[in-house]
Amino acid sequence: MDAIVYSLIQVVHNLNAAFLLAIPASWLWHRPSDPPSSATTATLVALWAVQGLTGAGFGGASLAFYGALPDLHPARLAALIVKMGCVVVATGWCVALLIGWKPAARASWLALAALAGVALSAAAVLRWAS
Ligand code: HEM
Repeated sequence: MDAIVYSLIQVVHNLNAAFLLAIPASWLWHRPSDPPSSATTATLVALWAVQGLTGAGFGGASLAFYGALPDLHPARLAALIVKMGCVVVATGWCVALLIGWKPAARASWLALAALAGVALSAAAVLRWAS
C-alpha cells in the first residue's frame, strides 16, 4: 500500500516538475519578449503550489505509514531546503506578476525556468546523496 501511495505522489510530482521547466523554457525559446498573461501566470502559481503540496505529501505519507519523517543526511536536507526555497521564490514571483509587477518578459521566463532547473538539480542530490 505504501509503495502505491508514494508512487502516485511521485507521478504527480515528476510530471508537474516537467511542466514547471517546460512552460517557461518554451516561452523563452519561442516568444521571449511576450510577457506572461494572467492566465499563464495563474497556471504557474497553481503548478508551483501543486509541487510544494506533493513534496509535502511525501512527508505526510512517511508520517502516516511509519510515524516519522525520514532521517535526512545534511546534503539531502540542504537539497530539500533549496527545493522549498525555489517553490517560495517562484510562487512569490508569479504572485507579484499577478498583482501588477512588470519586469522584462525575458527576465520572468528566465527566472522561472532557472528556478525549476535548480529545483530539478536539487532533486538529484536529494535522491542520491547519502
Ligand atoms: C516544497 C518543495 C518540495 C519538496 C518538499 C519536495 C520533496 C521531494 C521528495 C521527498 C522527493 C523524494 C526523494 C527521494 O527519492 O527520496 C522528491 C523527489 C523529486 N522532486 Fe521534489 N520536492 C519539492 C519541490 C520540487 C520541485 C520544485 C521540483 C522541480 C521543479 C521537484 C522535483 C523532484 C523530482 C524530479 C523528484 C524525483 C527525483 C528522483 O527520484 O530521481 N521537487 N521531492
